[in-house]
Amino acid sequence: MKTKDSMRDDASQSSESGIHSSQLMELFESELKDIYWAEKELTKEIPKMIKRASSQDLIDALESHLAQTREQVTRVEHVFEILGKKATSQKCEAMEGLFKEGKEIMDECEEGPMCDAGIISAAQKIEHYEIASYGTLRQFAQTLRISDAADLLEQTLSEEKAADVKLSKIAVTAVNVQADMEESD
Ligand SMILES: [Fe+2]
Ligand SMILES: [Fe+2]
Repeated sequence: MKTKDSMRDDASQSSESGIHSSQLMELFESELKDIYWAEKELTKEIPKMIKRASSQDLIDALESHLAQTREQVTRVEHVFEILGKKATSQKCEAMEGLFKEGKEIMDECEEGPMCDAGIISAAQKIEHYEIASYGTLRQFAQTLRISDAADLLEQTLSEEKAADVKLSKIAVTAVNVQADMEESD
């Protein structure tokens, strides 16, 4: 276990602003590899959700986010390019867990409003994970003063937030109300 003194020694090796920029760059690259894996997987996972969805609003929202997700994959590749690195992916365990959870929901539900509500819940958890990741990545890029990368990451962050808001609206207006009525029938 680290003593307070040894922790202070560790800290004194770092720059005044905290961790070294090279360490932050490492963390940035590692997070980028994670989200690259996640976005590529999402181009395969979202179509499965579309297949199981019934509400036209939900299908439209998922289809438009699928198109955005494909662009987001390219955007992450651009960020790697800005860093002068080859785009590589690293399996994101957290996102894989969310995919598994979504699969369980979709395997068990009966097609219709109940299933739609489940799909929305799974999709929103994914969006929130992406929002957290891109928020961090954008912040890292800003701190590292890589403004081109920060701008690209900000663009994707806005799309993820908008997708989340859209899913909330669909849940409130159509799907959840219908699912609730089905249950009380
Ligand atoms: Fe995304
Ligand atoms: Fe997304």
